[in-house]
Amino acid sequence: MKLFDLDTPALAVDLNRMESNLRRMADYAREHELRVRPHTKTHKSPLLGRKQLDLGAVGLTVAKPTEAEVMLGAGSPDLLIAFPTIGAAKMERLKHLSRQVRLTVALDSYEAAQSLSEAGVKARVLVEMDAGLHRVGVAPEDLLGLVGRIRQLPNIEYDGISFYPGHIKELGEEGMGRIETLNVLVSEKVEELRRAGHEPRLVSGGSTPTMWHSHRIEAMNEIRPGTYIFNDRNTIRSGACTMEDCAATVIVTVISTAYPGQVLVDGGSKTFSSDRLLNDPGVTFGKVLNAPGALFQKMNEEHGFIDVTKCARGFRVGDKLEILMNHVCVVMNLHEQAWGHRNGEVEISWAIAGRGKLN
Ligand SMILES: Cc1ncc(COP(=O)(O)O)c(C=O)c1O
Repeated sequence: MKLFDLDTPALAVDLNRMESNLRRMADYAREHELRVRPHTKTHKSPLLGRKQLDLGAVGLTVAKPTEAEVMLGAGSPDLLIAFPTIGAAKMERLKHLSRQVRLTVALDSYEAAQSLSEAGVKARVLVEMDAGLHRVGVAPEDLLGLVGRIRQLPNIEYDGISFYPGHIKELGEEGMGRIETLNVLVSEKVEELRRAGHEPRLVSGGSTPTMWHSHRIEAMNEIRPGTYIFNDRNTIRSGACTMEDCAATVIVTVISTAYPGQVLVDGGSKTFSSDRLLNDPGVTFGKVLNAPGALFQKMNEEHGFIDVTKCARGFRVGDKLEILMNHVCVVMNLHEQAWGHRNGEVEISWAIAGRGKLN
């Protein structure tokens, strides 16, 4: 079947591009002797997780226990939950998971470690440090203290430290400066831990915007990029990829041309998410690849409003448009199924089995 013959909205993946993104990361990591534990929140598919493992990933990363349950299907030797796991219901899930796979849990509080310890969850622990995003992660000056305290808890197997450099969103002068600041910080922290007898076996970090500069964080030995498998408009904006590296798009149909200068398509915020383009004062929810000049400026839940006043081409009801999204991870979570194609010919489809797995 041809890509544009799919019922829409259809989440399309260019398999040649995706495979090239996966290979490039695997080659980079091998060259720099970095472990890769890709974050699967981007694709939420055990099929794609398996591909990452086959290309040398040492394990897979998830955010939530229910995502981990789905990702068991990839047959990973190891799963990392890179999000604080809090609460009795989740401890139960972790106990079950830990009987099926080697589990690693990242955390940033004594309470989180204590509940793992008390629940008797068999898991390795990474202590999360705030690298500058100010989201989760203990302040760098408190890292040593937290590591020391949690190591005294029974049943806790300390395996190292983790951080997420989500504050580095672009690779200009400022971004590269932040990478160097991070390099110094991580080296200092690893040395401090080593001197105190808490040498981390794993120093786990990485992101898609910083992916090709991971080797500059010299003390880091593991990276967890997620978005890199598909990339998106915001990855282009970060400077980490080009348009030709973007593998995922959404195919939509023109459903109305009734209002002059505007076409309506059959995908809105329930298809694309409301994520904006990074550091862009304008408002666009995606780039219409086969209609230069078209501006995807407004959305209702099921309707996408496209301003076509600056378009050279005309539009008819039933036309198919291909739209590159701003933020692919959220879009994946909105769809049940993805369609893999090569040169416009659909080759395979798969269920996005982890979509909606938020617990
Ligand atoms: C803890 C953690 N690790 C890794 C990643 C993957 O980063 P990216 O989306 O930049 O590939 C994320 C993304 O949100 C994350 O939260």
